[in-house]
Amino acid sequence: MSAQPKRKEQAASNVHFHDAQPGQGDVRGELLAGLQRAQKTVNPKWFYDAAGSDLFEQITRLPEYYPTRTEIGILEANRAAIAACCGSDCLLVEPGSGSSEKVRLLLDAVQPAAYVPLDISADFLRESALQLGREYPWLQVRAVCADFNQDWPFPDDLPEGRRVVFYPGSTIGNLEPAAAEAFLTRVRRLIGDDGGLLIGVDLHKSSERLSAAYNDAQGVTADFNLNVLQRLNDVLDAEFDPQAFTHRAFYNTDKRRIEMHLVSDEEQSVRCNGSAIEFERGETIHTENSYKYTVEGFAELAASAGLALRQSWLDDNRLFSVHYLEAA
Ligand code: AVJ
Repeated sequence: MSAQPKRKEQAASNVHFHDAQPGQGDVRGELLAGLQRAQKTVNPKWFYDAAGSDLFEQITRLPEYYPTRTEIGILEANRAAIAACCGSDCLLVEPGSGSSEKVRLLLDAVQPAAYVPLDISADFLRESALQLGREYPWLQVRAVCADFNQDWPFPDDLPEGRRVVFYPGSTIGNLEPAAAEAFLTRVRRLIGDDGGLLIGVDLHKSSERLSAAYNDAQGVTADFNLNVLQRLNDVLDAEFDPQAFTHRAFYNTDKRRIEMHLVSDEEQSVRCNGSAIEFERGETIHTENSYKYTVEGFAELAASAGLALRQSWLDDNRLFSVHYLEAA
């Protein structure tokens, strides 16, 4: 252990770091298995290396990509009502907190007893927590390095308080319905009978509008999608040529989800960790689903996990929704 992070931690007495040591699992095996399925797939979590995270930042500022700015507008316009739902002195828990950007919009209004960012990336979490603690000296930050979707012990030295989970960004949209229900069930267990869930959910709308948000004119989403091939090359010692694939995104209206794929421009065989992955011309790797909900549809999903909508906030154009849920 180096001395420097220690010193920094001590400098910010309002920031604590707890490492639940999430396991990595068999990442290579998982990636390879996805590529060997009839419909080749890669989990969208692989988008977010340094380059991919940077591209996603750029996506959030694109004119066609409405979700981020719309959700921020909703949070800003409804701070007081959101704070009222959270109640005083809650424990505000954010799975996959990243740089803890959006929670900054709520902290002054909500005044939680502690903010608990959860992330699997230990170094990034540590830096983000320290930065937040410097900007909010009154705030107790209790960062936990853990994989929210695995079983890990919730630290028992946290301040008392009703637990409110914050899950913005329509991140839940990446999950297929069964996995989304499992995630919400996990949240329900964590918040107990008296806690809450504040969640951002993108809404079903016209295919044209949705398709444009994932096929931007500048091609940033295409670069974001294609960047995953670089990840495969790094992690799997593979030889994917990004020039030989094309970005495709469309709204699957039956399943109410955006699907992103990488289309093979030609018949090709890609060397991959000693073996080969064969592509027909036009065959795809399915890289992401982004489910869109109606308010009623989301309420139904939540109900299956024992959660009920207490309040919903939408923008004037009904593009995006933020909900506060409690135990049903
Ligand atoms: C971060 C999963 C909410 O689905 O809109 C943006 C990711 N993919 N453009 C989304 C994404 C392509 C984003 N989420």
